[in-house]
Order: sequence, then C-alpha cells, then structure tokens
Amino acid sequence: MAETLEFPTGHVRLGSSAGQPITRRDGHLKVTGAAPYAADNRPDGLLHAVYAVSTVARGRVTELDVAAAEAHPGVVAVYTPANRPALMRDPDEKVHMFSWRMEALQDDTVRYAGQPIALVIAETFEAATEGARLLAPSYASEPARIGFDRGVSYEPEAVGVGAPPRLEKGDVAAGRAAAARTVEATYVTPHQYHNAMEPHAIVAEWDGDHLTIDVPNQAIDIARGDFASFFGIPAENVLLRSPFIGGGFGSKAILNGPQVLCILAARELQRPVKLVMRRDQMFGPVGHRGATRQHLSLSMDAEGRLTALEHHAESTTSSFDDFLEPAANASQNLYATPALLTRHTGIRVDTGTPGPVRAPGEASGSAALECAMDEAAEACGLDPLEFRLRNYAETDPATGRPFSSKALRQCYAEGAKRFGWAGRPLAPRQMRDDAGFLVGWGMGTAMFPCPMFQADARAVLRDDGTAVVSLSAVEMGQGALTSIAQIAADGLGLEADKVEFRAGSSDLPSGGIAGGSGHTATAGSAVFAAGSDAIRQLSEIATQDPASPLFGAGNAGVVGRGGRLHRADDESRSESYAAILSRAGRPHIEGNGTGARNQTDADEYAMFTHGAVFAEVKVDPDLYQIRVSRLVGAFAAGRIINPRLARSQLTGGMIWGLSFALHEEAFHDPRTGRPMNGDLAGYHVPVNADAPSVEALLIDEEDRHVNALGVKGVGEVGITGSVGAIANAIWHATGVRVRRFPIHIADILG
Ligand code: MOS
Repeated sequence: MAETLEFPTGHVRLGSSAGQPITRRDGHLKVTGAAPYAADNRPDGLLHAVYAVSTVARGRVTELDVAAAEAHPGVVAVYTPANRPALMRDPDEKVHMFSWRMEALQDDTVRYAGQPIALVIAETFEAATEGARLLAPSYASEPARIGFDRGVSYEPEAVGVGAPPRLEKGDVAAGRAAAARTVEATYVTPHQYHNAMEPHAIVAEWDGDHLTIDVPNQAIDIARGDFASFFGIPAENVLLRSPFIGGGFGSKAILNGPQVLCILAARELQRPVKLVMRRDQMFGPVGHRGATRQHLSLSMDAEGRLTALEHHAESTTSSFDDFLEPAANASQNLYATPALLTRHTGIRVDTGTPGPVRAPGEASGSAALECAMDEAAEACGLDPLEFRLRNYAETDPATGRPFSSKALRQCYAEGAKRFGWAGRPLAPRQMRDDAGFLVGWGMGTAMFPCPMFQADARAVLRDDGTAVVSLSAVEMGQGALTSIAQIAADGLGLEADKVEFRAGSSDLPSGGIAGGSGHTATAGSAVFAAGSDAIRQLSEIATQDPASPLFGAGNAGVVGRGGRLHRADDESRSESYAAILSRAGRPHIEGNGTGARNQTDADEYAMFTHGAVFAEVKVDPDLYQIRVSRLVGAFAAGRIINPRLARSQLTGGMIWGLSFALHEEAFHDPRTGRPMNGDLAGYHVPVNADAPSVEALLIDEEDRHVNALGVKGVGEVGITGSVGAIANAIWHATGVRVRRFPIHIADILG
C-alpha cells in the first residue's frame, strides 16, 4: 500500500490540495450576502422573542408588570418564573465539563446585572421589545460585589475546563534562595466580552416532538444533545443547523438560557420563534473573559537563567459557577526552570459566569508572563530575546516530556530578522522617528496547546468521479469550509473542485468542537481517514477485477491521485475512479473515518504551537498617544494546510493581542454591577487604522506525533505573544512599566 493509504497508523503525505493558498470557498457567498446566518431565517408564522434583563446585580425580582406587557398590541405571551413551563432538566445542573449553569427563569433570584428575568413573545420584534420594557421590574437588591477586593475568594478545584489549579515542580524556595536576583510584579487584566459581529441568535421550530433550531454553535453534536435534554426528547429528534457563524470566540461553544427559553416558547405556542440578542445583551448570559490579577516572581542566577518561576493568578468568576481563566497555567510549558509553581485563586463577583474566550488562560497569562520576562531581562541587563534563548525549554517544564516538535528557535530568528530586531538599544527612550515620536521595540513568545477532540466523517465517492464529504464541521470565519475540504480532497485523491463538502448541521457525522485551535487537526483527520477508507474499498474492487489495469496489484498497492488509482510500482497503469465504479455497477462507495488523538503520542509528548512576536510602538512625546506601528510574528504550527488562511488566523490573533494590550475593557459599575460600556462605541476593539502593519511568517515544522496529518493549529496562538510584545515596546519607548491592561495614555503620563 502506498503511504497515502496507510492512515491512520502512520504519518501521511497529503496530496495536491493541502498546502495551497486557495481563497475561501465561501467568500463569494459572504460578500454577496448569500451566506445564511441564524437570524436570517424567517419561517412562516414566525414570532419574535425579546427578554428583559435585571438592572441590579444581586437580589430578587419582586415585581413585574406582566399585565402591562400582555396588554401591549401584538404581544402573544409573557414568561416569568411564575408561569414558565417545566423543563426536563434543571438549568443549574452541570451535566458535563462543558455545561454552564444558566438562567432560564427557574426562580426570581438575580445573580448579575444583565441576567434574563422574563421573556416576551410577540408578532413583531418591536412589540416584543416594548412588551419587555413595560415589565418595569422592581427588586429587593443587595450591594453588588464587583472587583477583586469586594469579591469573595476561594480555593478552586479546577480552572478552565477541568484543569488542575496548581502545579508545583522542584524546590521553589531553594530556587529563590539560590538566585542572584528576583523580579516580582503584579499584572491586572480586565473583564473582556467576546462581542462577535454576529450576536447570539436562534430560530426554533417544533414539529410534534421534533425540533429544528437555527443557531450558531461551535460544538454542534454536544449542543444537540444538551438542547434535547432540556425537552426530554432524543438527540436524534433535534436538527441543529449552523452553516455559518459570524464569530464565535468561545461564546458560541456553550449554551445559554435565552436559547432554551426561545425553544420552550416555540413549543408552548406551537409556532416558530426567533430570538436575537441586542448588543448590550451580549454582556451577561453568554460568557466573557474574567478579570485577573496575576503575581509573578522570577528568580535568576548571575547568567540570567531562571532558578524559580512562580505564577499566582486570581481569576474572577460568578457567584454561582466556576469557570476560572487559567492564567497561571501559561507559565507551565514555556521556559526552562528547575523550580516552578503555578496556582490559582477564585474570586466570586456579581457578573455572569466567564467562559472560554479566544486563548482562555493563555491570552491573559502569557500577557503577564511575557511582561515579567521583559522586566527580568532588564534586571539581568540582557536583550529580551537573548534572555528568552537562555531560558529556552528543550523539554516541557511541566512534565519533562519531549516536545512533539518545537521550531521556536527558528521563529525567534526569522521573526527578529524580518522585524530588524538586531541593534535594538537595551535602555528605554533611546529611539525617535522623524516626526519626533518615541519609538519602542518589544517582543513576546507565543505558545498554545494542540488539543484534538473527537470527530467522525463520511466520504461518498460517486461513479461520476465526484465525491461528497460530510461532517458537522463549523465555519465561524476561520476558513473551515476551505481548509478541511482541502484535506478531504487529498484523502480521496481528488481535486478540491470535485469534492462537495457538507458541514454545519447536526444530521451529519459529528465534526467535534470548533475550538481550542483544534478543529482543522480533528475534523481534518476525520475527513482524511474517511477518504482513505473509500479509496481502500475502491482499490479492493479494482485489484480483484481482471478487467482493470490494476488487477493483481496486490501487495504492490495502489495510489489514488487526480481521480485515478495508479499501481504503486508502475504509475503508467491506472484507471479512473469513475471507470472502476461504473464497471462494478456501484453508483457510489462510502468511506468512514474518525479523528482523535493517538493516546500513546499524547502520553509521551508535549504538543504546542509556538511563535515569536515583535512589536514596534510609537508614542507621542507630548500627548502620550500610543500607536502600534508594526507587528511581526513568526509561527511554527506543524503542517500548514492553507497558508493564506493560516496567515489570516494568525494576523487576526495578533490583532486580538493588540486589542487586549490597548483597547478591550468592560467596566462594571461598582455600585450596581451593571456593564457601563455594553456596546461597540464604549467597548473598544481595534479598527484598521489601529493595526497598519501586521505580518505573520510561517515557519516550516514537521510533526510526526501531534496527529498523522502533522497539523497543529493556528487559531489562538497569535494572541499570546502579542500582548506582552506591545506592552514591552511601550516600556522601551517610554521607560514606563504599565502592569494593567489595557494600557491607557494616563498610565504612561510621566
Ligand atoms: Mo475557543 S475560546 O477555542 O472558541
């Protein structure tokens, strides 16, 4: 058998499609407005749902003017905890690691401002909106607990999604005692909200005990089962369609109460119901990145080598659930140190429950770590890049395992060269541009794990030489419909334009989770395996058919390429897939495959994507306005399936980093707990003018362990090095260390 057919036991050689920088296959649909998003659906008889939210952060709802809402023309129903029909599952029950407690009108308790407290259904969106306003709630409220020092601290059992909250390795006290110098600093990161362009939306329609929902979701198979469990129906009775997502970022990986209420209303009223969140409602029941306060202590010997590294993160969560931004874990796998301590403290505050937001833990944690590394380099009198090279980890500091691959040195070298890092003055405030602006250069290391989830795929090869490959993969802007389709084409030995790729719906084999930067690796492995399975069956037919030029290829094997099977030992002997199937009287062949991590490799190797980010900032010497004039990142992410889309993901990540460093911050009024800037005017994200030059270099890297495709992932790593690089560049420009994000003009005013 040729190498391409050996999957999944060996490392595979992809064909002609993977590696090509083809443009997004869905690009035309999107720019012409033809790509359907959930809120675009308008089934006949549609009703509209709008929910009312609490304006206090803690207490009880004592009164709602339901009569006024019901009397409003067009209002069809008003649901409150007093009349909300029963659900088959308690919304406060956590049924698996990826289920969050949610508010679905189970009682009159208020746990945060912005919490859903009633649902109004009407013939029009406007009537529902007015009905919700007329409810005019009264409360018995208690003071909001907002901020690290007014929250309630606790020792967590887990951080992130089930990660241990503490890791200790080596003798930290001894490492500190042996140090020539120790740098200690505390960094603060704010609450951040995902704010995808597409707000959460759902259209629900029942047919007997069958439910169809159009809802953007990053984990279609899990969500289908979760939705079903609230209504006591089998998962198979739910059709969940999520063909396009206008940005998920983790927020659309978890269910929320308003979705469940919308489905419930549709069942009660026996009409389809649509619910679209307003922008301000995106600050509440749909997750966010909790705030962190991180204490770093780095001890170094006289040569600038770490002798101990301690990272303690305080992370906020809600009063009633436990997702903690696992920020300290960002220090576990990056720099060599004989002694390492990472730990977390939870702080309960009266906000909604945080959840995954792009690079959960790594974004906030590496921001602090990379700033601390810069401060440590300065304390040692070393160039920040040289300091990182002295502390380069040859094996994983947390586990001692070898890395499955790690081309970080090449990232440092190529990124530095492209940026022009050599000759950077050690001291701050040494560089100015022609206009007299202070110029600073900073850098940070980027790193992100390479998880794989579980996915299944089906590949149907047809007797006209085309194929249909399907699984419930998720296109959320990252390019899944393109890059996973490229892998699918290679698995079948077909050109990409011969492969129809079906995704985004729960009636397809499970595509796993579009998250954790693991979608291409997982879903890609599944589609490649499915294609290989179809080709294996096809070669059995051909090699046993005396009429085929491949007859008797036997042990020599065959190779599928360009829609033809070739004898491996004599490539001139070949036959088209269509001819083989037609002669055999087979209209099609179905192959099936799965994608998952090889557990032996997972136990033996540490698997991470790496990168190095270099930033140039310019600071007005009078007004202290900060501009990021250049970002250069170099990333090693294993095999790159589509360089164009990978660069798009990486530059997008770097811009998220810029956003983290300089823009994003949600304010909760400490008196009421209410989000004070719950819109895109007050919650700042960068625009093009904020990011004039962002460049991502792709560094060659072969990985024979991460999965058979050698694919790591590029979704989130770009954020991780960029935040610190920008903060460090601001120090280099101004001489001011700012340890609070986002960095404001006021922070660097001398
Ligand atoms: Mo995510 S935070 O991996 O969608």
